[in-house]
Amino acid sequence: PYPAYARMRELDPVHEHPFGFWLLTRHGDVSDILRASLSVDDSLVAGGLVRDQQEQMDQLGSRVLRLSMLDRDPPDHTRLRSLVAKVFTPRKVAALEPEVTALVDAALDEIAESKRVDLVETLAFPLPFAVISQMLGMPPTDHARIRELSGLLVRSLEIVADDETLAAIAKAGAELAALTRELIAWKRDHPADDLLTALISAENDGDRLTDEELVAQVVLLYVAGHETTVNLIGNGVVALLRNPDQLALLRSDPSVAGNAIEEFLRYDSPVQQTRRITREPYTAGGREIPVGAFVIAALASANRDERVFGPDADRLRIDRPEARSQLSFGAGPHHCLGAALARLEGRVAIGRLVERFPALALDGEVTWNGRINLRGPGLLPVAV
Ligand code: HEM
Repeated sequence: PYPAYARMRELDPVHEHPFGFWLLTRHGDVSDILRASLSVDDSLVAGGLVRDQQEQMDQLGSRVLRLSMLDRDPPDHTRLRSLVAKVFTPRKVAALEPEVTALVDAALDEIAESKRVDLVETLAFPLPFAVISQMLGMPPTDHARIRELSGLLVRSLEIVADDETLAAIAKAGAELAALTRELIAWKRDHPADDLLTALISAENDGDRLTDEELVAQVVLLYVAGHETTVNLIGNGVVALLRNPDQLALLRSDPSVAGNAIEEFLRYDSPVQQTRRITREPYTAGGREIPVGAFVIAALASANRDERVFGPDADRLRIDRPEARSQLSFGAGPHHCLGAALARLEGRVAIGRLVERFPALALDGEVTWNGRINLRGPGLLPVAV
């Protein structure tokens, strides 16, 4: 997508698409709109393909994320986010490092048994999936089914034009919500020292999550917890293996590891875009966007903007000082709640992988997962 984004930034940075949405591609415009007080409520969209999609989804009767904080405006957003943030704390995330390291090392032990593996199947997917499952305290359950359903549900974060896919997304959402309700019911009878138990009893000045709000926040955490970080690990490994000088730098100077994660996030954004809806006319890059517009903020394009990252923005440079200006976790009131967890998982997984296997190399064709938004490798064959 990157050459196309570069042309958009140059020629038409505030683009009105004939299908009835707008696309912002420059870093400044993307950063501004995420920090401004626009809406995330799709029902405010005035027309076009997005409106049709929302109406169809509403008719299909299953929009499980609708009550999640990702889709809510204040005052709901503020209270949902603060209730979840109360139990999903930076301290809890930081305390996970030994557990994350143990999970990564166990995966690497298995990988070491083979000469050639697919890193998505053996590390990039199972790690974040195990971490969020353990954090929430999910009972043993049908993980393969949950994986399949989450994979469908995240397609709702894209503009989908065909009815069959919309129906499949709605069905997956309903099934995931039903499974989550069962898990919550089980957890009420088996409370433990975990996030789900804490969410069930989370309280702020007497305020609590309703049953359906609880389901929506749990689905959001579960899905956001693994469908994104898989791409950070996958994209990061591909970028490193395609840039051997950068791999050598990471191995020779471990102090660069933290900055390297920012650069992986910048170079190939695990979440390529997010959206806002205008409640009143909004001006971006000197153009007026009308009320009820669905505006896509192209995080992936902002992250390659020459205006911020210089003329070599298309190069991977893990010691790039301005990498921290990347917008992959969004910005403003909806800034990713799981950013610290994703950074921790990415740093440990990629760091220990390259340390453990000095001869690590791509071994076959990398394929992509076919998603416009949560984009990353589908198949990542490496020789260890
Ligand atoms: C929100 C990206 C990992 C939980 C967001 C947003 C982005 C994002 C761009 C903001 C969307 C917007 O402004 O409209 C990412 C990326 C990740 C990642 C790139 C991995 C590399 C995680 C993890 C969790 C998580 C591991 C939780 C376990 C959330 C939640 C929100 C969110 C709860 C909603 C925040 C709100 O609406 O206030 N994420 N995320 N994310 N993320 Fe992440």
